[in-house]
Amino acid sequence: MTRIMLAPMEGITNFIFRRTYLKHFEGVDESFTPFITANQTHSFKKKEKLELSPYDETRIPQLLTNDAQAFIWALKAIKDMGYKEVNLNLGCPSPTVTSRGRGAGMLADKEKLRAFFDETFSAADLPDVSVKSRAGTEDPAEAGQLAAVYAAYPFKRIILHPRLLKDLYKGSVRTDCFRKFYELIPHDRLVFNGDINTLEDAQNVEKLFPGLYGIMLGRGILRDPFLPEKIKGIGTSDDKRIADFLDDLWDDYEEYLSGEKDVLYKMKEIWSYLYTYFPDGDRILKDIRKSQTKAAYRAAIGALR
Ligand SMILES: Cc1cc2nc3c(=O)[nH]c(=O)nc-3n(C[C@H](O)[C@H](O)[C@H](O)COP(=O)(O)O)c2cc1C
Repeated sequence: MTRIMLAPMEGITNFIFRRTYLKHFEGVDESFTPFITANQTHSFKKKEKLELSPYDETRIPQLLTNDAQAFIWALKAIKDMGYKEVNLNLGCPSPTVTSRGRGAGMLADKEKLRAFFDETFSAADLPDVSVKSRAGTEDPAEAGQLAAVYAAYPFKRIILHPRLLKDLYKGSVRTDCFRKFYELIPHDRLVFNGDINTLEDAQNVEKLFPGLYGIMLGRGILRDPFLPEKIKGIGTSDDKRIADFLDDLWDDYEEYLSGEKDVLYKMKEIWSYLYTYFPDGDRILKDIRKSQTKAAYRAAIGALR
């Protein structure tokens, strides 16, 4: 059976979203924290500690760094919390991240990337290390070069979002780039991520690339929270389950955020994806965007009950 991973989405799939979503819906086998920055201070911020604790064996922490010593420190600190696997973000296309040579910005210079991995893997007592990567920066031909780099190191898993840095989230995923990885990397270490929005999309990936470790779903889950259940052929898609999930999410956010406005902001962000699930989603989204209070928000989604 296909293993399903919930993608890290900074600002959305934080610990509150993950625990509430995973309480209400089946089908996800592993989830990732949004990226946690490993820097030279060798310490985690309070918010980052909330993402990491309590320990959960189905959660994989993700780190963002281009400093091998900071990475090694963070890998070991997270291992000490009980985690067996830690993921490195080599996919983030945001200019604030890439301009500092982090995320997908690290993919530009393959020699520097090798030097980073050489230094990292020379350390003793690391947990398993996995990467989440784009297929290159500018040119699809980079996919083969990158796959060769990854194949040379003991990565537990390689999650590929087959777009280039320059693509951002535009255009179709580049299945030809994924094919390069499929040719060079053992299939049971590879994960496909990107634009899996329906059961048919998942079946298509399975047909093109049989035998993968799994698939990773991001925005597809925000657009259809039942997607993992549909892919696994379990559960029933009842709108009331979405309403119950959203109510719980509101309550959970209310405990951590400072006021109704902040909670509303989070819910509006989720609805900017979720609205497409409902036939009258445009109208619901319009009402939600107008709402300034919990009461107005609840009235806007009243039709789900
Ligand atoms: C709002 C947002 C935040 C994201 N944050 C992260 C992140 O923290 N770490 C990461 O590796 N990818 C991040 N991504 C990328 C997703 O994990 C995923 O690779 C991408 O959305 C493509 O998959 P999808 O089509 O299933 O959504 C983010 C994407 C979005 C839309």
